[in-house]
Amino acid sequence: MGLAVVAACARAAPSTRPEPAAVRAPDRTLKAVFAGSFLVGAAVNQDQFTEQDQRGAALVKAQFNTITSENVLKWERVHPRLGQYDFALPDKYVQFGKRNGMFVIGHTLVWHQQTPRWVFEDASGAPVSRDTLLARLRDHIQTVVGRYRGRVKGWDVVNEAVDEDGTLRKTPWLTILGQEYIVRAFEFAHEADPAAELYYNDYSVENAPKRNGVIALIRKLQAAGVPVAAVGLQGHNKMTWPTVAQQDSTLAAFAALGVKVNITELDIDVLPAATRSQTAEVTLSAAPAAGLNPYAGGLPDSVQQALARRYADLFGVYMKYPDVIERVTFWGVTDGDSWLNGWPVRGRTSYPLLFDRAGLPKPAFDAVIRMARPEPPVP
Ligand code: GLA
Repeated sequence: MGLAVVAACARAAPSTRPEPAAVRAPDRTLKAVFAGSFLVGAAVNQDQFTEQDQRGAALVKAQFNTITSENVLKWERVHPRLGQYDFALPDKYVQFGKRNGMFVIGHTLVWHQQTPRWVFEDASGAPVSRDTLLARLRDHIQTVVGRYRGRVKGWDVVNEAVDEDGTLRKTPWLTILGQEYIVRAFEFAHEADPAAELYYNDYSVENAPKRNGVIALIRKLQAAGVPVAAVGLQGHNKMTWPTVAQQDSTLAAFAALGVKVNITELDIDVLPAATRSQTAEVTLSAAPAAGLNPYAGGLPDSVQQALARRYADLFGVYMKYPDVIERVTFWGVTDGDSWLNGWPVRGRTSYPLLFDRAGLPKPAFDAVIRMARPEPPVP
């Protein structure tokens, strides 16, 4: 049992004084308290799923019932060179999930980032033909999905194909294959594992122009008979964006399409914005500047409390849609693991998750737990 869980249980120990319902609850794990509503998960790194990071692994096992591969199933890692796959780490990732009875997610099959250049080029560096790229896509998806058939339960088939303005993003996939690449990717994945859930995953879908683009895309997939089980809202949130109203209307809009929604990469950035953009585009970078890393020595209590309230507000919206949301997955386990320590400014100290750098639950953890079992109103 991880330190954090021990600490959490310690607080729940019986006492002679009456305690509020949430504190008396016998089980203070995320997976248990939300069991009636949705799965709760985390993106895991290799130290966690190989259990080299014992504390991290224990926390994952105690708190979560679904995991997502942070990096090891991205194309550049699993298929670094033409004809050469590397399944050593992905195999361990999938085994960790199976051993612990978790719903295992594969992330991600088609993306414009973390995909090697060779995929789009011939030996002389010229763009490959449509047929060549389609054959490479098919080989990649069928090899990777086929290997984990029946064990990886859901795949982010296409990641981030829509731009901020709602048009399809101008990637080599689109340029060489045309918009049909999205349908084909889903078809290849479905052939490789007909029982796996297939997802479209993206960020900033809460902004109307992008949301409309994703809705149009999902409608097109549905019209083409593509088995898209859910839309993944990444949920790389800020303290004031998206608003509760934006989150709510986004969930309602996808519910109306008849697809499920997963919150797939949840975190909340408390640091000052380094750019004016709301994007989660991984190549964005900004120079360190005065004032951009204000909490290097620790997070002030006022900000801890504000983060807890913000998490409670977002979970309040999620809890309105228990029949639509199947899974809420955090992008990382502890604050120390988060990509937000390095993006978009390197070397910052970020606090976006529910567990602190020592693996201990933050006030935001308690706030989220309370949203699962709201205390009865005082009579
Ligand atoms: C995107 C991707 C993830 C990850 C995050 C940042 O959201 O989908 O795989 O790279 O960016 O870490």
